Amino acid sequence: MAGLENDLFLRACLRQDVERTPVWMMRQAGRYLPAYRKTRRRAGGFLHLCKTPELACEVSIQPVEIIGVDAAILFSDILVVPEAMGMELTFGPGEGPRFPHPLRSRADIEALPVPDPEDRLGYVMAAVRLIRKELCGRVPLIGFAGSPWTLATYMVEGGGSKTYARIKTLAYDEPESMHLLLAKLADAVARYLNAQIANGVQAVQIFDTWGGILTTRDYCEFSLQYMQRIIEQLHREREGRRIPVILFTKGGMGWLEKIAAGGCDVVGLDWTVDLDVAKRRVGAQVALQGNMDPAVLYARPERIRAEVKDILARFGRGTGHIFNLGHGILPDVPVEHAREFVRAVKEESVAYH
Ligand code: CP3
Repeated sequence: MAGLENDLFLRACLRQDVERTPVWMMRQAGRYLPAYRKTRRRAGGFLHLCKTPELACEVSIQPVEIIGVDAAILFSDILVVPEAMGMELTFGPGEGPRFPHPLRSRADIEALPVPDPEDRLGYVMAAVRLIRKELCGRVPLIGFAGSPWTLATYMVEGGGSKTYARIKTLAYDEPESMHLLLAKLADAVARYLNAQIANGVQAVQIFDTWGGILTTRDYCEFSLQYMQRIIEQLHREREGRRIPVILFTKGGMGWLEKIAAGGCDVVGLDWTVDLDVAKRRVGAQVALQGNMDPAVLYARPERIRAEVKDILARFGRGTGHIFNLGHGILPDVPVEHAREFVRAVKEESVAYH
């Protein structure tokens, strides 16, 4: 592709031929990198880092330069969308995200606006433009958003949860309110991803971190349906090239066929399914992304390489695989282990193409 030195990731997403398997890691810009921690300190906190385009750009590019991944991902967080809808968001040191005033009533849901992303999330768009410029075509840039169900979970629970009592009560007792919230979020996310695409991201991933807590029927009704509603609204081409869409439902491996039929180009896999089985189930329809257990990166480099070889052998010959972890990289993984992972994929995958 004109202007892109390494487009292996984009080609594999579209199941076009590649010389080797591309690799990146979910949460690759993060705390396991000393360079990230340094930039975050300079920013004076996580949300400040997200909202300062120069610094967000810096940390997006760090894993490309330090680890050698085949794609950059925009540095931001899924929860900036609810914040742009007017919900106060905090990230305390050492704790997860919190909404101090979670949604508690139908009236709270009705009052939520669908924000204009160029206005309320202009700092994200500025970061996208800057990252594209600084990448200089070295690798493609991935944009992302949370799934409506996953965003709703945080907005209703007010943070992480063990039982999901509040969101499930809403879904079971007040399905109409639940649907109103999910529909608003789907439209807000679609506008947000289209703005990312207009500003230069070359693929998008929807993170459905909490889809896996649902029953099969409720997954289709409350999560998958709204991801499809987003996909239907997305601009799928820019700069003469298709914008691949990746759907990742953690814990959703029982529903691969349904996910693959949802209009995406790529299905993200967690580590609970074997890649050969996943390929047999859906590999003719979509590309597959994944799926090494992130905890393998705690092990010795030889063990990491053995696991990479096993996963490559399971996928077998040909294109349509983007190597990744089955969820985000963990914050206490040694940098050298992440580098060995990427090096192993690059070296060992040539034989399969
Ligand atoms: O992948 C990347 O490198 C891009 C950046 C990115 C972040 N969050 C940065 C981040 C992405 C893609 C996300 C997505 C995200 N955020 C998800 C979906 C993906 C997943 O992991 O399932 C979710 C559920 C969130 C919400 C969120 N943000 C949580 C639960 C936390 C705390 C988690 C933790 O590990 O402490 C965050 C904070 C966050 N988002 C950090 C980073 C680098 C750590 C913040 C810090 O620097 O202290």
